[in-house]
Amino acid sequence: MLSREENELLTRTGPGTPMGRLMRRYWIPALFSDQLPEPDGAPVRVKLLGEKLVAFRNTEGRVGLIDERCPHRTASLFFGRNEECGLRCVYHGWKFDIEGNCVDLPSEPWDKDFKRKIKITAYPCVERGGLVWAYMGPPELKPEFPDLGWTVVPGSHRYVTRHVQECNWLQALEGGFDTSHLTFLHRGDEGNADGVKMNLPARYEVMPFDFGFVSGTVRAQGENNFWTCSVMLMPFHKLISTQPAGAHAWVPIDDEHTMNYCIEYREDQPLTDEDLRDSREAFFIHPQLIPGTDRPIANRDNDYLIDRALQKSGQSYTGIKGIGRQDCSVQESMGAIADRTIEHLGVSDTAIIKLRRLLLQTVKDHERNANTRLPGMDPRAYRVRSKRFTVPAAMTMEEAVDRFIRIKELAPAK
Ligand code: FES
Ligand SMILES: [Fe+2]
Repeated sequence: MLSREENELLTRTGPGTPMGRLMRRYWIPALFSDQLPEPDGAPVRVKLLGEKLVAFRNTEGRVGLIDERCPHRTASLFFGRNEECGLRCVYHGWKFDIEGNCVDLPSEPWDKDFKRKIKITAYPCVERGGLVWAYMGPPELKPEFPDLGWTVVPGSHRYVTRHVQECNWLQALEGGFDTSHLTFLHRGDEGNADGVKMNLPARYEVMPFDFGFVSGTVRAQGENNFWTCSVMLMPFHKLISTQPAGAHAWVPIDDEHTMNYCIEYREDQPLTDEDLRDSREAFFIHPQLIPGTDRPIANRDNDYLIDRALQKSGQSYTGIKGIGRQDCSVQESMGAIADRTIEHLGVSDTAIIKLRRLLLQTVKDHERNANTRLPGMDPRAYRVRSKRFTVPAAMTMEEAVDRFIRIKELAPAK
């Protein structure tokens, strides 16, 4: 349970909010690179952390991400002409480059200085792992791009989709680190080996590290402990210990919508047809979308196509087909922003409680001092993977993480 103030502090990410300020210190996925297939092609609307933006690929092939509103009289630059290294507003012809400089101002030929005074908000972008990433924080604090495992493997080793979740980002993140729901919500789905074959864990741990935190569940096996460890990378990434490996990034579109990037990847070989068939057709990790949108076909307007007969039959706990859909149904059903003041948390929610505490502490530390040492600022700290392992019961979590989770060698991001 959180106080109303704490809930606000963790869930709000718009400009000027404490969590928004913290999140803007990290590189944020904005769109797929192939949404901007060619230089001087059509601009694309992007909404990130409550900010309406426009992405475009300029004549040199570089990506710009600027405020959607023209600083003249706020017309949308989505309608702009993308030409000769800049995006030109079609209302009166003002033109901006990817750095946010006004490079042409044809409607005001009288004042030579005016152009120099005009700026549009522009965020630096890089392309990694098939995505365009933006940095929306203070320029002087921009970190290097992190060595995030799935962004450094070749394209053939990686499969990435995205879909909108109609709820706040924290609900989606918490769902990702909620281990006990596997035994219930996803029961009956072939892809859910954890939930079907395992008992509830005996212990839940969450420990902070220099990349974020590790959430571990412990099951006793005689003299040994069987650990399932999931990595959280600041500010909203999860790495999953499946084979092929999985990952999520839950990126706030605004406070009531989240872009869920779903990634599968292999470090050492291309994904096989079988890998992709499993994730698409057997487990439905990647929900099918309404064509031309990021909205799943099964959504809250049609009750996620729940099949009550299937639910009664016992083959599926929910009667909703697919892991991605099941997550959406319950997470969105909590409301756009879950009211955490009325919850009743139990032992199986230990990870959720601890991750909230860690996030609250990080937000507060960052508000007190923007130069505080934040997790994830060293790009090498992201060289980690999630893992399952069996070790002697005496081994501490720190030792286990150093041995199994941290990767010493990882090709640096290009
Ligand atoms: S509103 Fe964009 S140039 Fe006038
Ligand atoms: Fe789930």
